[in-house]
Amino acid sequence: METRTLGQLTVSAQGLGCMGMSEFYGTGDQAEAERTIRRALDLGVTFLDTADMYGPFTNEQLVGRAIAGRRDEVVLATKFGVDRRDGGRAVDGRPDYVRHACDASLQRLGVDVIDLYYQHRVDTTVPVEDTWGALGELVAAGKIRHAGISEAAPETIRRAHAVQPVTAVQTEYSLWTRDPEDDGVLATCAELGIGFVAYSPIGRGFLSGQIRSVEDLAPDDFRRSNPRFQGEAFQQNLALVDRVREIADEKGVTATQLALAWVMAQGGRGSNPAVVPIPGTKRVAYLEENAAAADVRLTDEELRRLDEAAPVGAASGDRYPDMSGIHR
Ligand SMILES: NC(=O)c1ccc[n+]([C@@H]2O[C@H](COP(=O)([O-])OP(=O)(O)OC[C@H]3O[C@@H](n4cnc5c(N)ncnc54)[C@H](OP(=O)(O)O)[C@@H]3O)[C@@H](O)[C@H]2O)c1
Repeated sequence: METRTLGQLTVSAQGLGCMGMSEFYGTGDQAEAERTIRRALDLGVTFLDTADMYGPFTNEQLVGRAIAGRRDEVVLATKFGVDRRDGGRAVDGRPDYVRHACDASLQRLGVDVIDLYYQHRVDTTVPVEDTWGALGELVAAGKIRHAGISEAAPETIRRAHAVQPVTAVQTEYSLWTRDPEDDGVLATCAELGIGFVAYSPIGRGFLSGQIRSVEDLAPDDFRRSNPRFQGEAFQQNLALVDRVREIADEKGVTATQLALAWVMAQGGRGSNPAVVPIPGTKRVAYLEENAAAADVRLTDEELRRLDEAAPVGAASGDRYPDMSGIHR
């Protein structure tokens, strides 16, 4: 697997999102999930993504178990800022909370240092300078190596970066979510020398073409409440997926591989920064299929056809049931 450099941090060109192993996308088999993480390391997919709020808390423990004895092979990313203690879900960027959350994550992961520590959601009640001052202290204390931010608007990224270098911005980016091309986030990252991490690069599984009806999802699956998976929007989005799948079939790759190859191809395209997707799966077989996408190269003609099949703004429906905490 090739590598990419996000800010000053070198990572595998494709990472592994671990969220769905614990929550949101139906129930997983924990032993298979651990095998998936270890298989990823075998294949050179060493950039692992988790967060304290996944589970909540159990996803970090799962990742910690899976990498025990192999810590040196891993670039470990986790996140703070959505407090789910006491069954709630409160965005918190206060310095005291940041310090507490970091210690708790280190303990759950069973490691001495976090390689990349993201602010998961921006707390608009706390100046981002205060949150990022605390992150700078964590770097100085050796508890984290790099800091990142998720779902932040360009001005917030700039303000954070002025306090402590932002190594990576993590935001949803895929053939059905091309917003970062349009809202200044990719341009801001390029200007400031910040790397870009693309979450949900398979469109939360939709771009695989395997979800044909909402009934394909478990009753407690988060996607049932996602506007893109509902009613008329679902049907319109199927048409987008079918256009992408047609190109994949012609190329002899799966729709998922094409979706991932497209995200990877955006790194360095035009003035873009490095772009690293972190596809999520809880299964070894999907992991192997996705890792192989790192070898899929797209021609200019294929990129042009994909731009046409899935242009900016093509998907129907919002990305979240409640968009108020997004892009702040
Ligand atoms: N910063 C944020 O706010 C934020 C938000 C969301 C996610 N993330 C991170 O980004 C990571 C990836 O995003 P995501 O998991 O939401 O979405 P994703 O990677 O776009 O899609 C994951 C879904 O695709 C399915 N899938 C994976 N590979 C497949 C394949 N080869 N064929 C068919 N289906 C396949 C998975 O199925 P199985 O589950 O059955 O394997 C899962 O349901 C997460 O794990 C998390 O770490 C961050």
